[in-house]
Amino acid sequence: MGQVDNVILVPTSLIRFFGTLCIGLILLAAWFFGGLFSYSLTGSGNAQAAQNDPVPIASTISLPKPVAKWDKPDLAIILTGQQHGYLLPCGCSRPQVGGLERRFNFIQGLKSQGWKIAALDLGDLPHNQGLVSLSNEQGLIKYRYAMMAQKAMGYSAVGFGEYEASLPLFNALAEYALNDPLPKVLGANLKDREKEFPDQVGTWAKVETSGSQVKFGVTAVVGPGIAGKIQDPRVKFSSSKDALAQSLEEMNKAKLDLKILLYQGVLKGVAKGASPSEALAAVHAFPQFQVVLCLSEEEEPSSNPIVVTHPETKEQILIIRIGMKGKYIGVLGVYKNPTVGQPYKFRYTIAQMAEDYLTPASAKKNHPVIDLMERYGKELKADNYLSRNRQVRHPAQVAFAEASPVYVGSDKCKKCHESAFAVWKKSPHSHAYQTLVQAKEPSNRQFDPECIVCHTVGFGFQSGFTTLDKTPILTDVGCESCHGPASEHVKKATDERWYKVLNPWKPQPSETAKDKELRLGKIDQFCQKCHDIDNDVHWTNKGFERKWPLVAHPTPVD
Ligand code: HEC
Ligand code: HEC
Ligand code: HEC
Ligand code: HEC
Repeated sequence: MGQVDNVILVPTSLIRFFGTLCIGLILLAAWFFGGLFSYSLTGSGNAQAAQNDPVPIASTISLPKPVAKWDKPDLAIILTGQQHGYLLPCGCSRPQVGGLERRFNFIQGLKSQGWKIAALDLGDLPHNQGLVSLSNEQGLIKYRYAMMAQKAMGYSAVGFGEYEASLPLFNALAEYALNDPLPKVLGANLKDREKEFPDQVGTWAKVETSGSQVKFGVTAVVGPGIAGKIQDPRVKFSSSKDALAQSLEEMNKAKLDLKILLYQGVLKGVAKGASPSEALAAVHAFPQFQVVLCLSEEEEPSSNPIVVTHPETKEQILIIRIGMKGKYIGVLGVYKNPTVGQPYKFRYTIAQMAEDYLTPASAKKNHPVIDLMERYGKELKADNYLSRNRQVRHPAQVAFAEASPVYVGSDKCKKCHESAFAVWKKSPHSHAYQTLVQAKEPSNRQFDPECIVCHTVGFGFQSGFTTLDKTPILTDVGCESCHGPASEHVKKATDERWYKVLNPWKPQPSETAKDKELRLGKIDQFCQKCHDIDNDVHWTNKGFERKWPLVAHPTPVD
């Protein structure tokens, strides 16, 4: 179990707990084989009509496929989390998955069919470290834009975790919650909430959706595993058990249909015999929550919720994980059920934010999320984010004490390496910057460090690309993007000490087949610094074997 927290089960209940896990698995299996997922829960069943839901409806977007077969629920709750800074689909080559624009369209699609929608997010909206070698300059601004987009989508509440705390939390809250109460940031067990972060973090929220009878409460806690990882000294947590007991007491007075817990902790121990996790322990300690959204450890979520039946109350609790990077969203349909003793039923599915939810041309104008992303690009440009990134030393700049090479640009290599230059010039590497200039929706990508870092020479390294004005010769993926800063070599090409630094992949004269395989493996690894799983989705399919011949440039032997 490792972690110590008050919500962890006392040992005497462990046996029961395992029994429950098995029941959970049986229920899951029943769902697999039984087709439709639909089961009942008991609850107060007490609801009132409610107010505000201002988002306009775009009738141009058709009903998303995964839920097209459902009866219209009394309320659909969108569940998301762990976006990790991916405001846009997560990479370069198509097909790409994710992005807030598609999420908006998905929700609009549901609304255009008359569905009533509420939305909740577990937190971890920004990334907690910079891309590639960058410092996390964009964490805060992305957090703000993610929150603005969630507001546009009608989110009611959002948790926070390790990722927000890395900004640190004080800055994250000042960036958004200080100025805007919606979506409400929740953290019921955040210590000294009012003293450290006055009016910025709530304990729970009551969610009412106009036109829907379903009224629910949501609260959020940070579990001990995540609390232990948070280094922000202003962020301390009290026991989640006490905090949840307090929230529940207040929630019970509010006569809600449903109670949902956003749990910043992971779900382990699903397999039989594994040790129970924090998230499960929390679920057990608080059977009053019908739905728990907890952290995923994998990028791709499981499409099935885990169903746990509490041993004492016999309540069934739905545990949901939703993966990372906003690639998927969860849709929970809540159906009021007139049957006595079964006030409502649930349906649940996940939807992949695939190209099905691209914005139709007719809906692009005044699209709130497209507009936000465009503003994001403009703000990066106006505030000159390109100049904000720290520059570290490239390994070649510390190779020898007496000389630290700087970047000189690909044109300098042309006269001595004509054939290599010709190969490069023809390759897409030589116009990688122009690709960013031409990009649309959003535009201004050439001012975004998170794009520039792989589409220029030496960004993030001393003397590398900073802006087009200051370093016009360092656009595109140039010779030195792969070979490192080469001023010393250009000054004195006969100085053999630099050869190894420039080309660590040079074959030994006596290279065996095995050596060659290893060496090519190293080059492959190197390419993947840029051709990573996000940005080149095709690399895994023999990408190196296919692509290296297209850019290889051995010096011709004459
Ligand atoms: C004045 C001529 C000259 C210029 C300019 C020049 N090189 Fe070279 N380069 C050489 C010579 C000579 C060698 C050694 C023979 C060889 O491997 O071709 C060499 C070797 C290399 C090697 C291979 C080292 C090895 O042992 O495998 C790389 C990589 C390289 N140069 C990159 C560059 C880059 C990048 C630039 C531009 C920034 C550049 N060179 C500019 C002359 C030059
Ligand atoms: C500094 C980042 C970076 C590195 C390192 C890099 N690439 Fe690229 N590569 C790019 C970018 C950016 C593009 C897209 C250029 C464009 O179209 O604007 C690209 C495009 C390509 C293309 C053409 C498009 C395609 O996927 O078929 C090939 C081929 C390619 N790279 C091969 C390689 C190989 C092989 C390596 C390793 C030896 C490598 N690249 C290393 C950034 C990089
Ligand atoms: C980690 C490195 C990396 C980052 C960061 C990166 N790119 Fe790329 N980009 C690549 C590579 C590699 C390719 C070539 C992929 C391929 O051919 O499959 C590429 C290709 C592209 C292409 C051409 C795609 C095509 O199909 O022709 C566009 C457009 C692009 N990138 C835009 C962006 C934008 C916008 C950003 C910032 C949000 C960005 N890139 C950030 C590495 C990167
Ligand atoms: C995408 C990364 C990449 C880019 C861009 C690139 N190179 Fe290379 N280069 C390599 C790799 C990897 C090797 C080692 C290949 C090998 O020896 O099998 C290499 C090898 C070389 C060699 C040694 C060739 C030989 O036969 O030993 C030279 C010279 C060279 N590059 C020069 C250049 C010049 C000049 C440019 C720009 C015009 C350039 N490279 C652009 C990755 C790159």
